[in-house]
Amino acid sequence: MGICSSPSSSFESSNNGKTWIIHGIVVGVAVTAAVVAHAYLNRFNKIRTRVIGIIPARFASSRFPGKPLVLIHGKPMIQRTWERAKLAATLDHVVVATDDEKIADCCRQFGADVIMTSESCQNGTERCNEALQKLGKKYDVVVNIQGDEPLIEPEIIDGVVKALQADPDAVFSTAVTSLNPEDAHDPNRVKCVVDNRGYAIYFSRGLIPFNKSGKINQQFPYLLHLGIQSYDAKFLKIYPYLQPTPLQLEEDLEQLKVLENGYKMKVVKVDHEAHGVDTPEDVQKIESLMLERNLA
Ligand SMILES: *[C@@H]1O[C@H](CO)[C@@H](O)[C@H](O)[C@H]1NC(C)=O
Ligand SMILES: *[C@@H]1O[C@H](CO)[C@@H](O)[C@H](O)[C@H]1NC(C)=O
Repeated sequence: MGICSSPSSSFESSNNGKTWIIHGIVVGVAVTAAVVAHAYLNRFNKIRTRVIGIIPARFASSRFPGKPLVLIHGKPMIQRTWERAKLAATLDHVVVATDDEKIADCCRQFGADVIMTSESCQNGTERCNEALQKLGKKYDVVVNIQGDEPLIEPEIIDGVVKALQADPDAVFSTAVTSLNPEDAHDPNRVKCVVDNRGYAIYFSRGLIPFNKSGKINQQFPYLLHLGIQSYDAKFLKIYPYLQPTPLQLEEDLEQLKVLENGYKMKVVKVDHEAHGVDTPEDVQKIESLMLERNLA
């Protein structure tokens, strides 16, 4: 072609330049978007790496005063719960949150870290929230471990934590297990229904779903809600202060307020026989069960 380039080739080359500039911009935008998206996703993942388990415990209880300290095969119930929680691999730290000096002393004796919370805490979530504020360190996930489930499996705690860590959409996670047919109409046994991605749709003290025969359908896999729950730490800061909602008030189920406000809750299904201790009579039941299973 020599030194004389034709107008067309010069046009071509300038067009090429433009193409390259546009290409460069497109690649630049794509790279920037990828970096931003990665940072964004990482932010969620990173935010949810530091996990604390809190066992809220209060002495006063109308049905069972001093419940956390009741001996189960010679060990205080709160110690049994704490020992189980300590085995959970996902927890960086486990603390007992209480308003009671006797409980605090007992826990310090067996080696637990204790956070004193005020007597004005109305319930476990409020106590967890106050404990979180009082802890010097930052945490991303808070697991509320009920002190009255001394046989809680560490794997259940881990399952609930991992569900929340894997799902940036959810601010809350909890566990369910198969409902025993004899508990179908017990209002103290809370039932749950979930969608096909494992998000909670609803919780009820009544049997859900309802079969039009009016009877329990022996074929349906009904779900029983277990008390354990974990929260995104930022969500826990606002959770106790969200206004009570109509369904929450009607069912007397705090977690409904999460759903009624449009937040997502992840539900993990686990194999677990619930052995909550609600009354002094339950202590004997759990002791004989532990003997049966060589857990004493
Ligand atoms: C209701 O329960 C019965 C069994 O008791 C079952 O056969 C039926 O499919 C269930 N659902 C409806 C809509 O009837
Ligand atoms: C716990 O206390 C908070 C704040 O007082 C309240 O909004 C919530 O409904 C209470 N939950 C239960 C289960 O009573």
